Amino acid sequence: MAHTLFLTILLFFVGTTVSGQRCNCNYISHPQTRFCQAHFAFRGSILNAEKAALPGERDRGYLYNQNLRYNVSVYEIFKGEMTYMTEHVVSLFTPTGGICGKPGLLQSQKEDNSENDFLFTGDIAVTSQGYKYLVITNCNWVARWEDLTKEQQEGLNGFYSDCGCEIYPRSEALDLGDTDADNFQVEDCGFNPISASILKVTDCETNFGHCMEVDDQVCSWVLSPTFEECFASRKSRLLLGAAAVTTRKDCNIYTGKQRKKCLLKVMKANRL
Ligand SMILES: *[C@@H]1O[C@H](CO)[C@@H](O)[C@H](O)[C@H]1NC(C)=O
Repeated sequence: MAHTLFLTILLFFVGTTVSGQRCNCNYISHPQTRFCQAHFAFRGSILNAEKAALPGERDRGYLYNQNLRYNVSVYEIFKGEMTYMTEHVVSLFTPTGGICGKPGLLQSQKEDNSENDFLFTGDIAVTSQGYKYLVITNCNWVARWEDLTKEQQEGLNGFYSDCGCEIYPRSEALDLGDTDADNFQVEDCGFNPISASILKVTDCETNFGHCMEVDDQVCSWVLSPTFEECFASRKSRLLLGAAAVTTRKDCNIYTGKQRKKCLLKVMKANRL
């Protein structure tokens, strides 16, 4: 059942993909990876949004146009040559249908104009008639500017341009018996946002980290003060949490797989 659904979605994507527009991607990727994969990255403010035809295509009217066009005033460019800019305004397109698109960025508009201030990373796509346009989908990193950390802003201004390392998600916890702290390692370029979220600890890598080749062919997280501090305090918190669990009842703070893991740990400890 689940497989059929997955396949259907996949086929839908293949069927609707315009050249250069990415709908199919690993949704768990690090900001640095997304920056590296993007054709452009800039900070800008959304002026308006309307359903529109892609460049060179026939305007089929509000009901039938498949894309939303954001007109965005560009403040700061981090990547890409913005030759398609007129008077600092660019048009960004996003599909309105499916889970591929990013409509609704303007919806949560407040009085304060800074609310429309976004980081946009995206791709240059080509229509079937050969017209180029800028596109954003859920595969791209798009975020409210005020939600970015200082380190992410610095990354955009330089560190993220280092694209020689692959930052890969670790999707599963390591072996039973290891502590939760072992889900996170500093010596390579793995990160684990899912574990961070389940364990309710900071995703230091996403928020404060960037990766670099430190030695010949060896990649690792760069130990900036903020990153190091985050990593160390997360580790001590997780090690402390592991030590605090001594009875079966202590495991009730967890659910599902985490709870099972906790119960096993208690059993093991009591056997010793
Ligand atoms: C957005 O920009 C396009 C291209 O410059 C322009 O044709 C369109 O009228 C603009 N939309 C709005 C609502 O201003």
